[in-house]
Amino acid sequence: MFKVKVPATTANMGPGYDVMGMALTLYNEFEVQEKAYGIECIGFGDIPLEENLIYTSMNRALNMYGYKKDGLRIIAKEINIPISRGLGSSAACIIGGIMIANKLMDNILSKEDIIRIGTSIEGHPDNIVPAVTGGMTVSIYEEDEVIYSKVNVPKNLRFVVMIPKFTVSTHEARKVVPESYSKNDCIFNISRVAMLVASMNNGEIEKLRIATEDKVHQPYRSKLIPNIDKIFKHARYLGSKSEVISGSGSTLMVMIDKENIDFKEKMQGFLKNIQGSWQVRVLEVDTEGAKIL
Ligand code: HSE
Repeated sequence: MFKVKVPATTANMGPGYDVMGMALTLYNEFEVQEKAYGIECIGFGDIPLEENLIYTSMNRALNMYGYKKDGLRIIAKEINIPISRGLGSSAACIIGGIMIANKLMDNILSKEDIIRIGTSIEGHPDNIVPAVTGGMTVSIYEEDEVIYSKVNVPKNLRFVVMIPKFTVSTHEARKVVPESYSKNDCIFNISRVAMLVASMNNGEIEKLRIATEDKVHQPYRSKLIPNIDKIFKHARYLGSKSEVISGSGSTLMVMIDKENIDFKEKMQGFLKNIQGSWQVRVLEVDTEGAKIL
């Protein structure tokens, strides 16, 4: 018997659409048990086995290396990452499945192999890479290869995720993003991504608001999240340093200084009067990524 623990991830971080991502201290845990025969997944609701991402991802990795496994039970032990809320629940299942396959194959896969297989399933690397490596990452996905690098995260930053009850489908949220952009919009986002990496690395948290501005996806996706402007405005009033849509939404994430200790309570109070049954959590960056326990 063994367990796999995978962190939640926030993608894009404003301007870094499909490029930037960060692992957060919120986890799913899957337990794997041997059984006489057959494969079953328990605790995943009524998703059929063939559509269960953890199972299909495990199988994909096993098949790639000509390995077969019969007699396995995968239990969703702790599911803390909410589904379809922009916190990397799909990436967590994909990476969970590949990590299980890797353990069954006596750890023949490197981190890079796990990332490459995971990205080929997910289609973009921004959640997959930090789910494996931990930390904040920048990734390039080209010709089936993933090149990534870590960005330092200032120790005094905290990440407040505001998770509504309503979901946003990534598939739908990708459809509202345009196919092409003006030169000005490209320069706008290039400058912000570069500033985001530099200000994180240098601990310049006062620059994070301008560094997380975006003209590639958030202006188009904002309409999928009612009251987003009002919520961000209030977060700024309470002292947040930056406000972004987490991944493709529906979660909103703001960055605060760790000294801002009553932010959560005040934000929670404010959100009680905004439709959406919002849940507020203060998280830190996860630095370890997925692991076998
Ligand atoms: N970069 C992706 C998007 C993350 O924003 O669509 C969601 O999977």
